[in-house]
Amino acid sequence: MTLQEKIGQMTQIELCVATFSDVRDLSIVTKYLLPPNDSTSKKAMPSDWADKVDRFQQAALDSRLRIPLIYGIDAVHGNNRFYGATIFPHNIGLGATRDADLVQRIGAAVALEVRASGIHFSFAPCVAVCRDPRWGRCYESFSEDTNIVRKMTSIISGLQGQPPVGHPKGYPFVAGRYNVIACAKHFVGDGGTEKGINEGNTISSYNDLETIHMAPYLDCLYQGVSTVMASYSSWNGCKLHVHHFLLTEILKDKLGFKGFVISDWKALDRLSEPRGSNYRHCVYTAINAGIDMVMVPLRYKQFIEDLTSLVESGEIQMSRIDDAVERILRVKYVAGLFEYPFSDRSLLDTVGCKLHRELAREAVRKSLVLLKNGKNPGKAFLPLEKNVKRVLIAGTHADNLGYQCGGWTRYWQGSSGRITIGTTILDAFREVMGDKTEVIYEKYPSPDTFAGQNFSFAIVAVGEEPYAESAGDNSELIIPLNGSELLSSVADRIPTLAILISGRPLVIEPWLLEKVDALVAAWLPGTEGRGITDVVFGDYEFEGQLPI
Ligand code: BGC
Repeated sequence: MTLQEKIGQMTQIELCVATFSDVRDLSIVTKYLLPPNDSTSKKAMPSDWADKVDRFQQAALDSRLRIPLIYGIDAVHGNNRFYGATIFPHNIGLGATRDADLVQRIGAAVALEVRASGIHFSFAPCVAVCRDPRWGRCYESFSEDTNIVRKMTSIISGLQGQPPVGHPKGYPFVAGRYNVIACAKHFVGDGGTEKGINEGNTISSYNDLETIHMAPYLDCLYQGVSTVMASYSSWNGCKLHVHHFLLTEILKDKLGFKGFVISDWKALDRLSEPRGSNYRHCVYTAINAGIDMVMVPLRYKQFIEDLTSLVESGEIQMSRIDDAVERILRVKYVAGLFEYPFSDRSLLDTVGCKLHRELAREAVRKSLVLLKNGKNPGKAFLPLEKNVKRVLIAGTHADNLGYQCGGWTRYWQGSSGRITIGTTILDAFREVMGDKTEVIYEKYPSPDTFAGQNFSFAIVAVGEEPYAESAGDNSELIIPLNGSELLSSVADRIPTLAILISGRPLVIEPWLLEKVDALVAAWLPGTEGRGITDVVFGDYEFEGQLPI
């Protein structure tokens, strides 16, 4: 391989800057699709995407060495970028289930839906141990408890397939064409930053870093996780992207990781102040620290130029480049990309299919945590009765699919409303209650709503609006959108079940808690609202336990 061909393997670029000729001529063989940040972009259909990825794949296969392209996406709770995909509960809800087998099955389902869109690589799972719910990525963490996060890493054996007994620790494993390359992120300590500040600083001893935050990575390595993403955050003031000790001496040398380490999005730009300045130096420190593939993702010509000159000047040894490329090629080979470079259209039927939606519904059922049931001891409020005359459904989150799914759904920050196919809480209640019950829905009930109406009970769903990453950092943790007032105004008049939709625990003051008859934490359940009615009407038991 020429130096240019090697560097091409290490360069991950974004769709919007990618051209077919650069993929072919510069041997850039890794690409990446970012969920757009606005809600104006058109529906993204998996079939269109399969066409697009295949065209880039053809360009890669037209290059001199015919090394296939690897295409990555953040499929963090389903193939969440695409319209119509099954959206599973976010990790915090999965942590509440404590069900490793369920989570593994979810991984396998997500892998199929991702492969259907022609994509081979998912930047998931996030195995952060969230120690402070003010962190904007709290919902991407399975739990504040390391042991629960360790258990939930079973999602890797779903995404990549289960490695055979005796598979050597640290070696990547991907079962085949129905699986995807997984990525354990963000190495390491991302959930431990001071005050829960995203991309912040984790201050701890090495022993605490190892036992609290690093332990889940060992479980990932035993399952053959193929890639690890470095964290934007710092450990004791030193950024992870330049941390030779943690990336190379610990992860690669001591723990024996043989897959590749990928940088986070534009993370190299963040290594200098002002951002993006002195880029050559940033490339120098990150590659020498042990980053193998760089999610550049935009100014790739600069990256290629700088890395080339650093190798030519000897500031980066060729052996470091060879090590990175060997790791990347190993993963591509193991993942079967040389045998099956193109998408398999027969998988398109799996996207949002009934089976996957039933699996997501099971996950919702198991993730619900019952926090209060009845005002008086011995007198439970739940399960609700189905055959009643009239019920009120209210609240900002009762009929909002986008809110129910949270961030990383269709768009990076998520969005409001019918952004995809699914069942809201209101839809679910309407389906279950049938014609005999009058279901009245008012997002914000007014005094008129209550006047003269005899409601048997009310369901009020409140919670957080979608957010992702730093936009979610929050030091208050009160229920936004006047959720407490809304709950209180209904609970003052009607026996009320409160459903909290949130990516983390929120503050509910005692005066409010006393007023509601029952309280359920539903986390960010995703598209299958029927999982909620399954449990509150008593067809299934509450099983969820607090993840935080
Ligand atoms: C996030 C990563 C994500 C990457 C690619 C970054 O902003 O920190 O978790 O995988 O973007 O979208």
